Amino acid sequence: MSGIEIEGLRPLDGEVTVQGSKNAVLPMMAAAVLHRGTTVLKNVPRIQDVFCMIDILTSMGCKCNLEEHRLTIDASSIGRVAIPREYVTAMRSSIVLLGAFLGRAGEAATYYPGGCSIGSRPIDLHLYGLGRLGAQISEQEGGRIAAAAQRLAGGRVRFPYPSVGATENVLLAAVKAQGTTVIEGAAREPEIVSLCRMLEGMGARISGIGEETVVVEGVNELRDSEYTAPGDRIVAGTYLACVMAAGGRAYLRGADAAQLEGVLKVLRRMGADIQTQPSGIRVRMGRRPKPVSVRTAPYPGFPTDLQSPLLSLLAVCDGRGQVWETVFEGRFATAGQLRRMGACIELDGNRAEVRGVYPLRGTRVEAPDLRGGAALVVAGLAAEGRTGIVGCSHILRGYEDICGDLKAMGARIRRRTEADEGTDGR
Ligand code: UD1
Repeated sequence: MSGIEIEGLRPLDGEVTVQGSKNAVLPMMAAAVLHRGTTVLKNVPRIQDVFCMIDILTSMGCKCNLEEHRLTIDASSIGRVAIPREYVTAMRSSIVLLGAFLGRAGEAATYYPGGCSIGSRPIDLHLYGLGRLGAQISEQEGGRIAAAAQRLAGGRVRFPYPSVGATENVLLAAVKAQGTTVIEGAAREPEIVSLCRMLEGMGARISGIGEETVVVEGVNELRDSEYTAPGDRIVAGTYLACVMAAGGRAYLRGADAAQLEGVLKVLRRMGADIQTQPSGIRVRMGRRPKPVSVRTAPYPGFPTDLQSPLLSLLAVCDGRGQVWETVFEGRFATAGQLRRMGACIELDGNRAEVRGVYPLRGTRVEAPDLRGGAALVVAGLAAEGRTGIVGCSHILRGYEDICGDLKAMGARIRRRTEADEGTDGR
């Protein structure tokens, strides 16, 4: 199995450009389907999830062209509205295509995303929201879901929980629906704001952007547009954690401090010296992290996607810290791997109690999921000896070049291919 190898305990010093945001770009790619024309997205990260979304759109009849970080999607004509099952299994966030194809063609079909390593990930809120806009949803054999509407009509959607994906799905379905859609209890994540701004550029009429209540006035036509995706706040947060684990300093060009306000507050409490600038974030760390107690929550709370990297920092903190995971119940799989590296972590339901140990011990560990895998990279930087991380396909789903970026900051890190494994017999 290919993997990543790290030799820890080397302070970092360097600068990198943070890649474009995965979670912003994926729903924007879905949004392109709403328009019978061309949409250009810039600063698109070259990662597995984006490639998978390109494959899905291509299989549905769109013409996609990714050159460097510029993606052109021509959705002038589409050939089908049913998402093939294998893609749904490969990428659960393909569920946002349901609202987009409903908005475009008045019908769409997909499959239940099923279980996931970070929790059950139900889609009841997505289906409820689309139903409020007049979609008839039928659940068919083998987990197939079909949605159809003669003409979507604006409606009032009241979410009991601010689901990011469900908010995106309803936004996409509402853009060309007849009349006004009011979404109450909408998610307020920066990715929702980016999606709304991009939709506005396409000609959508949206108010309350970034607020709990978002109002969409349906329009008949959209236009060709271009949009530049923001830097990925989760990748930026991961790299901040890397510098804090290894010690040293770095400049993260393209990291948006406004989107990371809550995170930066926590990292400063842990001892990081962080300077924010319009073009990026500067971080310096000269000591072991101080302990903190943190609870994950929907935006503007501490993001669940940075809980695992935070756990790695707490694993080497100078004292005892705690993390409560309130968003995805299964997101403590990293704890077991960190323990293999010598971490002292006790789990009690959705709470992790951590006693810092420094340094950790380099050993062979396995990436349990995307952010959990990145967290093991953070831990490897604070570990004595060599850390070998296998199961890196998870990491590649979301990080364009984590090894190259950390190398540019002075880390001793490299990708190991299967050919390498063969040469030394391991
Ligand atoms: C998105 C992000 C993911 C991030 C998450 C929370 C993408 C591609 N993924 O995921 O990285 O961790 O937001 O910030 O953007 N829920 C329901 N019913 C539903 C939908 C969700 O109960 O119909 C629950 C989920 O099980 C979970 C919680 O709501 O407990 C949050 O999920 P949601 O906000 O929908 O996350 P995603 O859109 O899947």
